[in-house]
Amino acid sequence: MNQQPADRYVVIGNPIAHSKSPAIHARFAKLTGQQIDYQRLLAPLDSFADTVRGFIADGGKGANVTLPFKLEAFALADELSERARMAGAVNTLKFADGRIYGDNTDGIGLVADITRNAGISLAGRRVLLLGAGGAARGALLPVLQERPAELFIANRTLAKAEELVAEAKGISDSTRLCACRFEDLVQTMDVIINATSASINDEVPPLAATLFGAQTLAYDMMYAAAPTAFLRFAAAHGAQCRDGLGMLVEQAAEAFALWRGVRPASELVLAEMRAEIHAATQVAG
Ligand code: ATR
Repeated sequence: MNQQPADRYVVIGNPIAHSKSPAIHARFAKLTGQQIDYQRLLAPLDSFADTVRGFIADGGKGANVTLPFKLEAFALADELSERARMAGAVNTLKFADGRIYGDNTDGIGLVADITRNAGISLAGRRVLLLGAGGAARGALLPVLQERPAELFIANRTLAKAEELVAEAKGISDSTRLCACRFEDLVQTMDVIINATSASINDEVPPLAATLFGAQTLAYDMMYAAAPTAFLRFAAAHGAQCRDGLGMLVEQAAEAFALWRGVRPASELVLAEMRAEIHAATQVAG
């Protein structure tokens, strides 16, 4: 049998050893019958561009980009999607015809997880985005495209939230936009998305308990084996909680679709991963 070598893809980051992307993409490939080879690639901190160019020279077809290289990937791309331009960062690269195409699938992955997997519409709802850094910027356009009635952007540094709101005003005329400090907010929200990096230090922004109700979805973009401080806080105030595992799977599905032209059954892969994690926790416990 004469088999073509599989098209090659990588996830590039530093560190990269713990990335779940190879397992996710291997599962997508199996489910869609695609032949791909997907590996981790550690780039030295000072030579991201050279690492990418080396991979292209070796025949690489595309790459996912993770910390700390999303801004460098943005700078490296010859062509950008609208959402990557808006995000100012790139997490997906496609190499074709000697050109580097940059996309950002993080925000659309977040929205897909909330609307499809959790089954919660953002249209006409009151949404609060916590943070105004890279993660919040990446979420902005896809969230606005769902046409929430109100979008509050709250940040420790108010000026950065104001900057994001000013940009958002240029792309949406159907959503009421508001930049604020965490402490300014009291009204119950429909959806609260944590795009701050506070969870990394097991911290929670100073939020009023009144923001959370039984109908509130509290979403942490971060994924960790145990619930983050933000999700623990939200659960203690009666909200429904969701971590960023679904976002991780959905951003990968969007990248896979961009590269391969087919959409994998991401909800199935997410359910499998949840079951695996649950089983591992049971054993560990
Ligand atoms: P990322 O790419 O993860 O978004 P970033 O661009 O450095 O990282 O942004 C981090 C975000 O988390 C910012 O909104 C930051 O607030 P500031 O703009 O005021 O720095 C926010 N953040 C980080 N630690 C925080 C904490 N302990 N409490 C509240 N907000 C925090």
